[in-house]
Amino acid sequence: MNGGEGYALQTREISKRFGAVYAVDGLTIDVPRHGMTSIVGPNGSGKTTLMNVLSGVLPLDGGVVLIDGADLKVLHAYETPDHGITRTFQEVRLFDQISVWDNIMVVLTKRGMFAALFERVQPSYRRRARQILEDVGMWEKREALASDLSYGQRKLLEIGRAMAMNVRTYLFDEPFAGLFPQMLQRVKELMKTMRDEGHAIIFVSHNMEIVRELSDYIIVMDSGTLLAEGEVDDVLSRPEVIEAYLGS
Ligand SMILES: Nc1ncnc2c1ncn2[C@@H]1O[C@H](COP(=O)(O)OP(=O)(O)OP(=O)(O)O)[C@@H](O)[C@H]1O
Ligand SMILES: [Mg+2]
Repeated sequence: MNGGEGYALQTREISKRFGAVYAVDGLTIDVPRHGMTSIVGPNGSGKTTLMNVLSGVLPLDGGVVLIDGADLKVLHAYETPDHGITRTFQEVRLFDQISVWDNIMVVLTKRGMFAALFERVQPSYRRRARQILEDVGMWEKREALASDLSYGQRKLLEIGRAMAMNVRTYLFDEPFAGLFPQMLQRVKELMKTMRDEGHAIIFVSHNMEIVRELSDYIIVMDSGTLLAEGEVDDVLSRPEVIEAYLGS
């Protein structure tokens, strides 16, 4: 398949089924290489499942995913960073029993937890870890155990871990959910900075105010299918999109 030049991610008729439920049902989308793309849709419309198959957390039942125009055939979670894509989860996932600092270091050094903790770590990694922790506003908390962090701090650390991956394309599943205004502002600024640095940012959100503010492009899902995609103002003013929201 060709034509992938201007796209970070493309899908062709992808499907993911859970028993009788078609969570993603023949979905074909094109996510631009540059800018921020939001994925919206009612609860249960398949947004998280889409993130899971795009990041290789779940295998596809059918269809094709292209990353930077290349068909990966089989996508596994552990290999997606090398293909230039990583993601955060709707439910934050960290190593709870190690420090904030070590949570970043494990990712930066791409080692197992124990190797990262006990081997001598190069100064370049230490500088980068400090930079990331300062960027996400967690430098003061570097010694804290991840399990002792607040919900918002956990989200910030998870974003820091994603930044440590340094890939071209980022998937964020509901990065703003449950955040207080100050924290929410920080996450927004981080995402904008990443976009301005040239990363493709794809995020799921139910917060339509933020979706309008941040998105260059929007994908609307309904029952696992594509309801609409395109420029935000255009898409959100279409009757079928308005109806899907009011009807949910
Ligand atoms: N692991 C699973 N096993 C069985 N069914 C699942 C599983 N994950 C998702 N589903 C079902 O697939 C459908 C899509 O779920 P998904 O979590 O992708 O929706 P969503 O758009 O992310 O919803 P929300 O906005 O509530 O986060 C739902 O019907 C859900 O119940
Ligand atoms: Mg979800």
